Amino acid sequence: MTSLKTFPADFLWGAATSSYQIEGAWDADGKSESIWDRFSHTPGKVKNGDTGDVACDHYHRWPEDIALMRQMGLKAYRFSIAWPRILPAGRGKVNQAGLDFYSRLVDGLLEAGIDPMVTLFHWDLPQILEDEGGFASRTTAEAFVELTDVVSRKLGDRVKFWATHNEPAVHAYLGYAMGVHAPGLKDYPKAARCTHHLLLSHGWAVPVIRANSAGAKVGMVLNVGYSQPASHSPADMEAYRFGQGMWLRWFTDPLYGRGYPGDTVADFTALGALPNGLDFVQPGDMAAIATPTDYLGINYYARHLTRAEIPEEQNLPVEVVQSDEMTDIGWEVFPEGLSRVLTQLYLTYHMPALYVTENGASYATPPSADGAVHDERRTSYLQRHLAACQRAIEAGVPLKGYFCWSLFDNFEWAEGFDQRFGLIWVDFATQQRILKDSALWYSRTIALNGVLA
Ligand code: FCB
Repeated sequence: MTSLKTFPADFLWGAATSSYQIEGAWDADGKSESIWDRFSHTPGKVKNGDTGDVACDHYHRWPEDIALMRQMGLKAYRFSIAWPRILPAGRGKVNQAGLDFYSRLVDGLLEAGIDPMVTLFHWDLPQILEDEGGFASRTTAEAFVELTDVVSRKLGDRVKFWATHNEPAVHAYLGYAMGVHAPGLKDYPKAARCTHHLLLSHGWAVPVIRANSAGAKVGMVLNVGYSQPASHSPADMEAYRFGQGMWLRWFTDPLYGRGYPGDTVADFTALGALPNGLDFVQPGDMAAIATPTDYLGINYYARHLTRAEIPEEQNLPVEVVQSDEMTDIGWEVFPEGLSRVLTQLYLTYHMPALYVTENGASYATPPSADGAVHDERRTSYLQRHLAACQRAIEAGVPLKGYFCWSLFDNFEWAEGFDQRFGLIWVDFATQQRILKDSALWYSRTIALNGVLA
């Protein structure tokens, strides 16, 4: 027999995207080049030579896309701002056309009864700022505050949910240390500086948003997989401690006023990532980073088993994922990890609220002869992860909302278009959209405010 398990009455049901992954229009209306334009235009960096030049062409098709969101009954939509559309020189002169695009989008969403959640930085940095060092340079942190001010001044009357950065660890480590994301560097000292300036610019941005957007909820979004040592051998346990320090505590500890974890400072020093110690930390920085926020957003996909012995080419000594049930991108399906990370984070840091700002699965299931996309595995993934959210709520975690990644199939960074995370199928040749079965299921779930199990 099926039964319905409901969520709290005000639970925020959403879906998420990011600018570079869906917008296309990479050089339209005064937009400058981003590091992802440069990276994807460089042969050999992205699978199949894919680029975000057109992607889902959302920049032109947003009214149709809002109509689809409305049809699904979404309560909220998380999207990001392309910095090079707003400040083509990285700072200074505002490009009105870029700002107007987001303003119209926000109006369209509100007319459809959908709350916008704006992420200010989801990795598409203006190339011109990268030429000064990107977030490895403190001047980029200063420029981010300018971006924040311009955007929150314009949208702050209507947008009530703000995220400063998306997954600073991924931007810093994959972009500056592992070389697999833009700008494609393998430079540990730069990556370390980058983490600090991302955190610092978040802290500086919070009061700016509060000043421009009365009553808004402000937070940051972190990537939070569930981590376990692959075995209880001392070496694997040590790898686990190392990985948790670098990927999680390096961010959460300073955000919640505890400073950088000493064991990770020692690890980074041993790796050569801090040749001049923490010289980039200036007086007042740690207090700024710890500025109180309203929520922590977590992006959860999978479990990571941490082992001491890692493949040479990974460059950074962390994690291998293995299990019986994997999604197409090779990430393990492990719903219980979501309840565990939510619970552990809350018990450790006591934040006022948490949102799952991303959760979803890559399955390439194409349209069938009947024209529909029967992606049962995605529905099953989502259903089990929502049940995990409910277990966390029952355990007392103040989880206030859930955003599925992603609204559309889109440009999955270095993986290009092969990995399809969408609730909505996109035919990239024709730009036709089809609501997948999982989207129809999600829509019923939202309407019921609960999961049928
Ligand atoms: C997250 C990113 C998001 C998307 C998903 C699959 O790390 O924030 O843009 O690529 O992974």
